[in-house]
Amino acid sequence: MRKLFLFLVVLFLSFQQVTLAAIKEMTSTPDSVYLFSFATSGDDGRSGLRFAWSMDKENWFEVGRNYGYLRCDYSRWGAQKKMLDPYLKHSPAGEWICTWKLNDRDGYGQSTSKDLINWTSQKYPRTTSDFDGTRVKAVVAGEEHKGTINRVAWTLVDGLNKNYDWNQYRNSLYGERPVQDGERFTGLKPVKATVTVQPERAKAISDVLLGAFFEDINYSADGGLYAELIQNRDFEYDPSDREGDKNWNSTHSWTLKGDKTTFAINTTDPIHANNPHYAVLNVERPGATLENTGFDGIALNVGEKYDFSIFARVPQGKSNKLQVRLVDGEGNICGETSLTVSSRQWKTYKTVITAKATADTRLEIIPQSAGELNLDMISLFPQHTFKGRKNGLRKDLAQVLADIHPRFIRFPGGCVAHGDGLKNIYQWKNTVGPLEARKAQRNLWGYHQSMGLGYFEYFQFCEDIGAEPLPVLAAGVPCQNSACHGDLRGGQQGGIPMSEMGAYIQDILDLIEWANGDAKKTKWGKVRAEAGHPKPFNLKYIGIGNEDLITDIFEERFTMIFNAIKEKYPEIIVVGTVGPFNEGTDYVEGWKLADKLGVPMVDEHYYQTPGWFLNNQDFYDKYDRSKKTKVYLGEYATHIPGRKANIETALTEALYLATLERNGDVVHMTSYAPLLAKEGHTQWNPDLIYFNNREVKPTTGYYVQKLYGQNAGNEYLPSKITLDNKDDKVQKRFASSIVRDSASGDVIVKLVNLLPVEVNTHVDLSGIGVIQPSAKRTVLTGKPADTPLPVEDTVEVAEQFDCQLPAYSFTVIRIKKANEK
Ligand code: AHR
Repeated sequence: MRKLFLFLVVLFLSFQQVTLAAIKEMTSTPDSVYLFSFATSGDDGRSGLRFAWSMDKENWFEVGRNYGYLRCDYSRWGAQKKMLDPYLKHSPAGEWICTWKLNDRDGYGQSTSKDLINWTSQKYPRTTSDFDGTRVKAVVAGEEHKGTINRVAWTLVDGLNKNYDWNQYRNSLYGERPVQDGERFTGLKPVKATVTVQPERAKAISDVLLGAFFEDINYSADGGLYAELIQNRDFEYDPSDREGDKNWNSTHSWTLKGDKTTFAINTTDPIHANNPHYAVLNVERPGATLENTGFDGIALNVGEKYDFSIFARVPQGKSNKLQVRLVDGEGNICGETSLTVSSRQWKTYKTVITAKATADTRLEIIPQSAGELNLDMISLFPQHTFKGRKNGLRKDLAQVLADIHPRFIRFPGGCVAHGDGLKNIYQWKNTVGPLEARKAQRNLWGYHQSMGLGYFEYFQFCEDIGAEPLPVLAAGVPCQNSACHGDLRGGQQGGIPMSEMGAYIQDILDLIEWANGDAKKTKWGKVRAEAGHPKPFNLKYIGIGNEDLITDIFEERFTMIFNAIKEKYPEIIVVGTVGPFNEGTDYVEGWKLADKLGVPMVDEHYYQTPGWFLNNQDFYDKYDRSKKTKVYLGEYATHIPGRKANIETALTEALYLATLERNGDVVHMTSYAPLLAKEGHTQWNPDLIYFNNREVKPTTGYYVQKLYGQNAGNEYLPSKITLDNKDDKVQKRFASSIVRDSASGDVIVKLVNLLPVEVNTHVDLSGIGVIQPSAKRTVLTGKPADTPLPVEDTVEVAEQFDCQLPAYSFTVIRIKKANEK
């Protein structure tokens, strides 16, 4: 019996030990596991490099749910950016090398990493042995994939899992929407806030903080800001503008109506080699009409005058009178004129049409005699342009831009600046000089750039509205999303060949000479003077690159351009680029390069959710102020599902702009993007201002930009903000910024309330000096999906005053300094 008892005790103890060991094994983590790396074949690996781990190579556990840790950057969105058959290996130096196939033509993609989370800039070798290695099959989350297996330390997998969890958490924050806040803050009482200015901590901030980003996207230029009313006036539309669309050709927008006349396009002996196509009318018997439908019609305003001009010749020498009419949909003639073409050589003929009605019309040209006519550069231009400039800008649109009071204008893009492939890089020299000699080009947004709105007009507009010009030029590489054109590889692998870089750099230096050079003593200064602007434009900034991938191809070319500008024009502020996002490889590598070269400023871009902006208000507070490089936030906007612009997006931007003013010592410039969009031709949403031929429709976000632009300061007055509600989410939805404009002495208080309840704010301005008792207040408020207009009134203010901020509102109070006795 005793023996039995002892036996049972021993059995129990050993069983307990075994169980404890098993439990211990289950709860402690292994030292190493198998890591399976693969890309999904259904999407050609576009969702990136994925991982799963296993103890036994049988049961695989997915790392992150459908989560890609590295994505291919090569070539165009959609058709390209594939990661085919990736192979992951560990180098003897302790680095992970991932190599994949790009497609059947272009070779391989490659990137390296220490932790499988942060990856270096991608390289695209034509050949490599790193791709060779055995692939195996594994079932992950019920699906079979082909990939590579490595034995790795558990800590590596743990790091990947934690990174995934962290991103999930961040995404949940970034998914927060003010539109949901009514529910999130159910029962929330009105909040009390105190804003106490601390004038003793005042600091100087940029005096060019808010500007405008102009890109020819959404028909912003031709058919938009550029006031020309004739579409395809130069007969240079080409199927290649629109991926081979055969209807997009030299005759686009033109039709010949009637018989006994033919209409053809010819290229023999054109006005200029840059403008090779022209129209040929062979009139056997008069009566036919050549028509142009403009850009969605030609909008006339009664009583206004329009300059009609045409390049024409009669090769047989027989004069031909042209009747020119503007006709509405009912056939009413709303304006007319005539001119006689008598020259055998190209000659420009000009006349003026006065509109007899406000109407949407088409242009009709009716030859009155038989014979051959050659026609080109057929133009109808309102005399009422912005500031009355010839070849100028649409008055109403330009005025709405001027009203923002942008301190600078960036042009011509965006992606348009670096183009779709090498041959599409925007060349400034093709856009100045006589219109008939400018070289039109494909717009990568799928249409045509006449270049009628070119560098001269951009600079002129900047001068007209007191904005600094900020031209952006390609860094010797085309857009990272370029397709393959002919012999070029996709993406930025088509960098300008080194043998041509010298000439390309010279073009950039010539631009600076064109803008600033002496009108008599410099070659390009003379060109500017001949165009009608002898005084220099006083260019201070030049952008090199636009959200490029920071590859070795980019770095090499950027460095060459940067050094050349620095050497010849050390006074010019070069603005570099740090990729398309606020984080990631290009952001990190772009900043590294800027630090290394001492680039004075870099261009950051991020289109983000309201939640991102709410939760990253300290983005620039954290900025390392020992850095020499300043920031140009060149493209940003709040994006919500459906990409609408409303009070939710506008107030988010107002809130973030308050943080940018606070950091105006390091953030030198900012511009919302994109700026303009023509209704019916919009490729990108949201934009700041929508328009059609007759109306201009600013968005709610436009009023935020305008309020910041018109109420800018060059001195930031920090303040202590206290809310009676300590909930972090409540606190994040309130912002304030107080600035002083040293020219006027005005102090401007900006208050943003993104809460669904009122915020009763006590403003304490003690110490800012004596102020006038009444101030101008502007309030923009509405429910999140509303698109309200700002409302202005006058309010009483004092050293201390109370101000009630409506739910979801942006309030600006402009306070004048009292006249000192
Ligand atoms: O603003 C629209 C586009 O967004 C720009 O062309 C490009 O720079 C960015 O990707």
